[in-house]
This record gives sequence, C-alpha cells and structure tokens, in this order.
Amino acid sequence: MPKKILVLNGPNINLLGKREPSIYGRETLASIESACRKRGTALGLAVEFRQSNLEGELVGWIQDAAYGGPKGKQTFDAIVLNAGAYTHTSIAIMDALKAAALPVIEVHLSNVHKREKFRHRSYVSPVAEGVISGFGGHGYELALEAAARRLKPSGRRR
Ligand code: DQA
Repeated sequence: MPKKILVLNGPNINLLGKREPSIYGRETLASIESACRKRGTALGLAVEFRQSNLEGELVGWIQDAAYGGPKGKQTFDAIVLNAGAYTHTSIAIMDALKAAALPVIEVHLSNVHKREKFRHRSYVSPVAEGVISGFGGHGYELALEAAARRLKPSGRRR
C-alpha cells in the first residue's frame, strides 16, 4: 500500500498565477498539483491535494487525516501544509496538528524570512518536522521527497 500524503493549502493559495506574481510567480495551484501527483507516483506515494480559504475547514481536514477513518483510524500518513497567512495567526491549526500527531512538513512558496516581520513567526513550525520556504512550487515536491524519506521504516523519528 502506498503511503498517503495530504497536501493542504490555506487562504489565497487558489489565486496562484494571478496573485502578486513578483512574489509568488506565475505557476498555478493546478500545475503544482499535477507536478506533485507525478512526483508522488515516482516516490511511491498517494497524494491528495486540497485548498481552503476557511480556517475551520483546514482544521477539520487535519482532524480527519488523523482520526477520520473506520474506528477512528488515521486516513493519511503525513501532511504537507502551506497554511498561507494562517501560518502566522492560527493557534487552532497548530492545536489540530498537535492533536493529529502526524508528521507535518511546512511549505511556503516565498522565503518568508526575507519578507515582513509578521511573516517570520509561524505557529506551524514548532509542530513540523521541517520547513521548506522560498523555492516556489518546487518546494511542494521537495516536501514530498522529505515525507517519503521520513515514512520509510528506517526514516528519522521525533
Ligand atoms: C505563503 C506565505 C504567507 O506569509 C502568505 O500569507 C501566503 C503564502 C507562501 O507560500 O509563501 O499566503 O504561505
């Protein structure tokens, strides 16, 4: 059975391609999704891609990834998360990730540390395995590679 990876995208990530292209580039979320599917297949992963502008919906998806299966079992093995601006504000998402206790890889298209100070703080980082920031859409593929390595039986554990 391939390991299942849930790739979650937060608010305004649906506007990639149109949104501030000097920061986020011209790549669309659909093209990032298709690159991730390809890379996932090559890595032996089953990738599911979702986006929401709603904090509560993201929280629900994180909860379901950990507890939404039959008998409350997990439905995904790891989460790749670009929480958008909720990265910098959402204690609810941080708590959901803590409760889920699944490996999380945090992704940002832009290098948040080169930008405004309020983007330097992340509520996701303290509960993530690691952070990939500044490599545009390629960062998602890098995150899938990290997830594949992490989920191997010999992969690093916390
Ligand atoms: C972002 C960075 C966030 O600061 C911002 O609010 C986003 C996108 C990124 O991918 O670079 O919406 O997460």
